[in-house]
Amino acid sequence: MKSLVTGASGNVGRYVVEELRNMGEEVVAAGTDESKLFKLFGNEIDTVILDFKKPETFKNALQNVDRVFLMRPPHLGNPEDLYPFIDHMKSCDVKLVCFLSLMGIEKNPIPPHHKIEKLIERSGIPYSHIRPGFFMQNLSGVHSKEIIENNEILIPAGKSKTSFIDAKDIGLSVATVLHEAEKYKNTTYTITGPESLSYFDIAEILSQATERNIIYRNPSFIKYWLYYVNIRGLDKQYVNVTIALYFMTRMGASKMVTNEFEQLTGRPPHSFKEFAADNIDSFMDGKEK
Ligand SMILES: NC(=O)c1ccc[n+]([C@@H]2O[C@H](COP(=O)([O-])OP(=O)(O)OC[C@H]3O[C@@H](n4cnc5c(N)ncnc54)[C@H](OP(=O)(O)O)[C@@H]3O)[C@@H](O)[C@H]2O)c1
Repeated sequence: MKSLVTGASGNVGRYVVEELRNMGEEVVAAGTDESKLFKLFGNEIDTVILDFKKPETFKNALQNVDRVFLMRPPHLGNPEDLYPFIDHMKSCDVKLVCFLSLMGIEKNPIPPHHKIEKLIERSGIPYSHIRPGFFMQNLSGVHSKEIIENNEILIPAGKSKTSFIDAKDIGLSVATVLHEAEKYKNTTYTITGPESLSYFDIAEILSQATERNIIYRNPSFIKYWLYYVNIRGLDKQYVNVTIALYFMTRMGASKMVTNEFEQLTGRPPHSFKEFAADNIDSFMDGKEK
């Protein structure tokens, strides 16, 4: 039997695929865009079209699958968007669903992950909720454009601190629980990186790594919203959810450091300095270094 990896082309999904394969597991990689899956995985693994908004894609995706990595695509801001798929899983013999949740979600009913966790728990499907802190990949992904083009970080987090984690480490945590489904059923893990950093610290580390002067701009929520919606053209629902998350971050909700990643995997998490060095090309325009 196989593990279904939803969002397999995404930040975490790609590493879940990689780590499960390292463990000798059979994997089926899912998404709505077949060309993205092919670009990443070629013909090396099975791929399947799965769209949470299209119930007609569920049956095929869950064929011969007994474990599922479930992620909520960031632009699906309503928890209800995932309900039909969770409901469908009830009729399949799923031994474990590992849901990519969010640090602190047990005390915060606003982000969609809260209701999704509760629904999974009520469904009776054995679960493991992985609750990570903010991803280091936010810097090398969505925010890299401003870093590369203007040497600035545009995130409305004030002076708050965040215990950033590498999505690769999240992928290893997810693969660990899926690999030993029985052992990890009905568990939750809050996983973070090794230290809590402000975006001023992040700017400093990136300045050293790139040998440029990268500045944290610390915009207001309004400036952030106007820029990402009107200039970058990002989805409004996505930007709204991130504002709620950065509001919580400003209140100190993202700074906790745990040792649960090491407990789960037996090794320490990557630091942001290591991440910056390993992903240096994501912060360069291709002309330097
Ligand atoms: N970023 C953070 O710091 C952070 C921290 C904690 C938790 N989280 C949570 O982690 C989750 C993933 O966030 P991310 O920003 O890293 O996203 P991501 O993995 O980049 O998300 C995009 C993925 O979703 C798939 N997808 C898009 N629409 C879909 C649909 N209708 N049905 C099925 N799959 C679909 C995409 O594949 P196709 O293009 O092939 O459809 C793609 O693989 C979110 O729930 C987020 O809230 C994020």
